[in-house]
Amino acid sequence: MINETMLILGGKGKTGRHITERLEARGVPTRPASRSSAQRFDWYDESTWAPTVAGIDTAYMAPPVDPQGLEQAGRFIRQAAVDGLRRLVLLSGRGVGSPGREFAVYEKGLELENAVKDSGVDWTIVRPSWFMQNFSEDFFYDSVMAGELRASAGTGAEPWIDTEDIAEVMVAALLDPKHIGETYSLSGPRTLTLAEVASELTAATGRPIRYVELEPEEHVAELVGYGVPQEVADSLRDLLAVIRNHRSEYVSDGVRQVLGREPRDFTDWARSTAQAGAWSA
Ligand SMILES: NC(=O)c1ccc[n+]([C@@H]2O[C@H](COP(=O)([O-])OP(=O)(O)OC[C@H]3O[C@@H](n4cnc5c(N)ncnc54)[C@H](OP(=O)(O)O)[C@@H]3O)[C@@H](O)[C@H]2O)c1
Repeated sequence: MINETMLILGGKGKTGRHITERLEARGVPTRPASRSSAQRFDWYDESTWAPTVAGIDTAYMAPPVDPQGLEQAGRFIRQAAVDGLRRLVLLSGRGVGSPGREFAVYEKGLELENAVKDSGVDWTIVRPSWFMQNFSEDFFYDSVMAGELRASAGTGAEPWIDTEDIAEVMVAALLDPKHIGETYSLSGPRTLTLAEVASELTAATGRPIRYVELEPEEHVAELVGYGVPQEVADSLRDLLAVIRNHRSEYVSDGVRQVLGREPRDFTDWARSTAQAGAWSA
């Protein structure tokens, strides 16, 4: 039994929430931290950093998605190591450091990985593909509800992954020192285009959903119109460009490497997520 409290940065998010639940189910105390958590933490308010890390050895970090936020996360880890943090499991992104990704969001993502490696903490880096939960909890949710997946992914495919699989990998990494110094790439078991995702979601929800292919700048303008900050919309455009350029059409075996089992399939996820009422409003 581990008695030390683990810090979960982004503890209410799509990955952090499931990590917190799993650790608590095993009796591991957690300290979820974010702007709305009891432990208030803000990437852009450095006065919140030291109290968040006080007394903590081990942390999970879900960093921001935009280049400026990734820089802040690098600053944070350097300071946290000075303040006593000894072990970090980092949520990165699949393809960070690979060719064909000459975008600020990937460059800053690699800089963050390097900042973690250089900070002196024992690290594990996990690089997942795009999340299935983007359709049920995040920026594609409204599109699903409106019956139109509007995005600039072209005809490219992505091996979408369930964040429950990611969480299980993260918990293994947080609890077992054999994962120190490892970098794992994770994905779901097969690639699907957004048109294929739309037909999976149509079958799961019983409501017609189609993919509407947008030009990248058209997509950015729509996202900003819905209130997404410009830098986040730009990052999404660049992340989608990798799908659009067919550079993400491969599966990665990190879930099998860490957990010894296959990741969850999209059809199964979509069916049970629909049954749980995610799109029943
Ligand atoms: N979505 C994907 O397909 C995908 C794929 C690969 C990698 N990733 C990476 O996953 C990361 C996001 O992780 P996630 O999806 O688990 O999180 P998420 O669902 O986007 O949730 C974000 C979390 O961060 C907190 N947060 C937001 N702004 C904050 C701020 N200024 N200061 C402190 N906390 C803040 C939020 O809580 P509060 O609102 O309470 O602050 C929330 O707990 C990003 O780095 C992204 O690049 C995403």
